[in-house]
Amino acid sequence: MVERAAAAIDLERFPIHESQSQSYLALLAEVRQQLKETGCARLKSFVNSAAARALQDEVSGVAGQAYRSYNKVNPYFTADDPTLPASHPRRHFERRSNAFIPADSFGANSLLRAIYEWQPFTDFIRLALGESEDSFFQYDDPLADVIVNAVDPGDGFPWHFDTNTYTVTLGIQPGEGGGTFQYHPKLRSKSGENYDRVAAVLGGDLSGVRSLTLGPGDLQIFLGRYSLHRVTAVTGTTSRYVGIFSYANEPQMCGRVERTRQLYGRVLDIHLQREALLRGDTLHD
Ligand SMILES: [Fe+2]
Repeated sequence: MVERAAAAIDLERFPIHESQSQSYLALLAEVRQQLKETGCARLKSFVNSAAARALQDEVSGVAGQAYRSYNKVNPYFTADDPTLPASHPRRHFERRSNAFIPADSFGANSLLRAIYEWQPFTDFIRLALGESEDSFFQYDDPLADVIVNAVDPGDGFPWHFDTNTYTVTLGIQPGEGGGTFQYHPKLRSKSGENYDRVAAVLGGDLSGVRSLTLGPGDLQIFLGRYSLHRVTAVTGTTSRYVGIFSYANEPQMCGRVERTRQLYGRVLDIHLQREALLRGDTLHD
């Protein structure tokens, strides 16, 4: 398992296994600088081309297990507020399609999982994000720890801010056309929503917006809480696949029952048990 991850990652360019080396520290400094400046760090061809092809095959083989759901969302994932003017960004709703291949599709033989579970990888991500060892853990959720987001032709992901601070993704298959990741760095901040500029971007003003396509094997760390972002509609006949590695600030964190059901269409015993623990009893509702 460990060897597979080490063989898949381009360790010459990204020596994440040699944490004491100068080149490791230089890489870390570069990623941190990118995150500081734009909230987005992309490590192009982090996974070598042979492994990228293997990942594409692996994901294509389980793509049928994706769970799809549809809803309408505004950039903040909040409910409509009719007291606001119709032009307000909080009243800007677009259709969103969700399709996730659940984590239990990626078992012990999965290369995607091997990368996620390789300790030097976790350590590198943690340090890049400036997190300490006692506040950074792999997500303890067998349906959600390492998943793949599938975007089918015709679909995209409308403009939004993330509710979580960071996202760690791995490009697997870009789709034939479209599927571009666009983001406006630091459009809002802790001190303000900047609704005027958000409204301008929603209205089609792309000044200040950056675009990138996540190619097969590209690793991306993105701070999505302050940067408005979207994925443009995928064109052609193949889906866009992106692996998502999830982490939590506390150990033994797993998804809540209702949210898990929304995202994956089912729950496991672990979700029910953890929720019961939170509630302080083991009674059924
Ligand atoms: Fe996002």
